[in-house]
Amino acid sequence: MTRVPGSLDRWEGRPVEEWARRWGVPHVEAYDELPSTNERLRVLAEAGAAHFTVVTADCQTAGKGRGGKRWDSPRGMGLWISFLVRGDPEVPPTLVPILVGLAATRALERLCPSLRPGIKWPNDIEVEGRKLGGILCEGAGPGAVVVGVGLNLHQGIEDFDPGLKGRAASMEMAGCRGVSRSKVAGELLSAARSLVDPPPPLLDERLRQEVRDRDILTGRVVRTEVGVVGRAIGIAADGALLVEVEGRVQEIRAGGVMAVDSGGSARMEYGKHRRARTE
Ligand code: BTN
Repeated sequence: MTRVPGSLDRWEGRPVEEWARRWGVPHVEAYDELPSTNERLRVLAEAGAAHFTVVTADCQTAGKGRGGKRWDSPRGMGLWISFLVRGDPEVPPTLVPILVGLAATRALERLCPSLRPGIKWPNDIEVEGRKLGGILCEGAGPGAVVVGVGLNLHQGIEDFDPGLKGRAASMEMAGCRGVSRSKVAGELLSAARSLVDPPPPLLDERLRQEVRDRDILTGRVVRTEVGVVGRAIGIAADGALLVEVEGRVQEIRAGGVMAVDSGGSARMEYGKHRRARTE
């Protein structure tokens, strides 16, 4: 494919074609700045881009989160990346986000073995009770999914908006310093290729077990976006969240959920730790 005006020849010190080769993907577009890597990839997808085409940007001016929220994507602070997954149109839409969540946790743990990242259904990557990353999957035609992944790498607590300070984390805050975006991208894409190249029709028992081990909601009392309150009891083979409400199991396939019990008390108090060190 020919280089697009505005895209970079080199990213992280190497030609972008070399990253495509190293990552085993057909095409990489890297930008200094974009409104949103998902939006750029959607245009490419609609023009017929191949499975596992990748778009990344050093900063996003209109990064998108789930549910119409903004995703803060400051320059140099994290990995803001999208890749295209083409699969059978019958693959349940709840499956790809869970598999990419699993890929992200595997990748982060490989880079930083002391980290134990978890998945908070449907799209959050959490560590020590704080959100370290998020996944936004958007349909781009039959069987095509634009997968956007945002991972906070280098922020300190003071770099987050006041509203996020108590809830956000980065790799550095979690004690994993000096991890480059290219390393994270490489591990993420390699883990994603082993899970969604192509996406399976359902989670098999081995994957369900791995998801179970990573799922931070099981056993917690949750409230869904439509106000249903119950106890999360796991994730179904198609990626739906299973919530027990008054003895009956409901399968949640849309919207988000929040934990409403006190099980989140393990959350790290990064601000306090930082103060304690300087006092
Ligand atoms: C969420 O947790 O709400 C999902 C956040 C997804 C953010 C990523 S950053 C790369 C890609 N481009 C976007 O505009 N959003 C996703």
